[in-house]
Amino acid sequence: MPPEILIPADALAQRVRALGAALSAARGPEPLILVALMDGAFVFAADLARAIPEPDLTLVFRRASSYRGTTSTGTVALEDPPSLAGADVWVVDDILDTGLTLAAAMAACRAAGAARVRTCVCLDKPMRRAPGGLATADLTGFTIEDRFVVGYGLDHDGKWRHLPEVRALA
Ligand code: IMP
Ligand code: MG
Repeated sequence: MPPEILIPADALAQRVRALGAALSAARGPEPLILVALMDGAFVFAADLARAIPEPDLTLVFRRASSYRGTTSTGTVALEDPPSLAGADVWVVDDILDTGLTLAAAMAACRAAGAARVRTCVCLDKPMRRAPGGLATADLTGFTIEDRFVVGYGLDHDGKWRHLPEVRALA
């Protein structure tokens, strides 16, 4: 088990409730759709969606992959973009790192017809931004230093996603 707890489960729960309320307060008149990026966002998106008090929320999951081990491959793909015609879209991800995944996902959502595309991330490592990457998310849970973290959906080669807290691997 990675020894160092960076963000305990109760702090995550409290912050995610605030993010859900903020996202709800910021909604426009268009249909509200969350596009959550698999696999990393599965825990965050499940908690976030349940913290959004909107009766007519649509939640879809799409795969976006850029990582093997702890090194970005540099290529980002969003599989099967859903039809988002006229929608108020939030792309939800576990962490904003280089920003390339979210930049690509936002472009795919715009191409799929979204009226508006915003982003909500659980974690942000601002030191790691790449040229062409998204600079900042519209809603951020926690800003962290440049360390590889696992838990709360984040993995290292598929391991540790199930941990209820965020831990630093190195
Ligand atoms: P970006 O395109 O570099 O912003 O990468 C975003 C994706 O990289 C996230 O969805 C994560 O899957 C992965 N990632 C970035 N940093 C970490 C980390 O510290 N732990 C686990 N996955 C990470
Ligand atoms: Mg990911």
